Amino acid sequence: MRNFFRLFVPLIINPYYYIKKIKKRSIKNFFEYENKPYNRISLISLAISKIISKKGFENCNYLEIGCFDNKAFDTIPLPLSQKIGIDPLRGGTHRMTSDEFFSKNEKFFDVIFIDGLHTYDQCSKDCINAMKFLDTNGLIILHDMLPRSKTEETQKFSGDAWKVAVDLSKSENLEFIIANIDQGVGLIKTRANSKYIKQNDIKDKKFNDYKETYYHQLPISNIENALNFIKLD
Ligand SMILES: C[S@@+](CC[C@H](N)C(=O)[O-])C[C@H]1O[C@@H](n2cnc3c(N)ncnc32)[C@H](O)[C@@H]1O
Repeated sequence: MRNFFRLFVPLIINPYYYIKKIKKRSIKNFFEYENKPYNRISLISLAISKIISKKGFENCNYLEIGCFDNKAFDTIPLPLSQKIGIDPLRGGTHRMTSDEFFSKNEKFFDVIFIDGLHTYDQCSKDCINAMKFLDTNGLIILHDMLPRSKTEETQKFSGDAWKVAVDLSKSENLEFIIANIDQGVGLIKTRANSKYIKQNDIKDKKFNDYKETYYHQLPISNIENALNFIKLD
């Protein structure tokens, strides 16, 4: 029914158009992102160009977990031998889950973008695996770290990947910040002795705990700091 209206009824007399608008208005965000012309792809692009200028074009390797319509994946200006995209449903280069990929992988990457299944369990696993296969001076980028409302914390949107941000902010021997744009873009720099540390009690926490407590403890950064974080060693 909804599709019939979408395809054949002009927007102005389509009731679903108005229902969607009303629903969207009734969602109350408890904070807003920076209103600046940047998104996750700006940060991925900067990371890629930094690696290319340091190591050379031929030595830059990119991995994306969760590709969907390739909005980010297609912007990566590397040959297919140097960019891998994992998605069990659509997009990328490998039709499989991230767990299946990492169980056989032996390759190291300079930039790893994690944007697959947005549950705490899967996203933390992806992060731990990414840390294992990140080359020296590489960067891990994570999407959906900062849901603005309970609705955005559902699986259809960002899920509870914010719990991974809490773990990362308390992990050892790594640098971690979150750019306050585009659903929250996490940036991680690791060292040889970096250790992802799971917080015992985080798995069962609710959106209200995030809103009242954890959000205020996260290393949230403006876009200028985030760009500098990527640029500087
Ligand atoms: C939000 S979309 C990715 C969007 C894309 N990275 C972008 O920037 O436009 C999430 C994707 O993750 C995929 N996905 C779900 N579970 C996954 C898993 N276990 N491993 C890898 N990808 C997964 C879904 O099929 C979906 O296409």
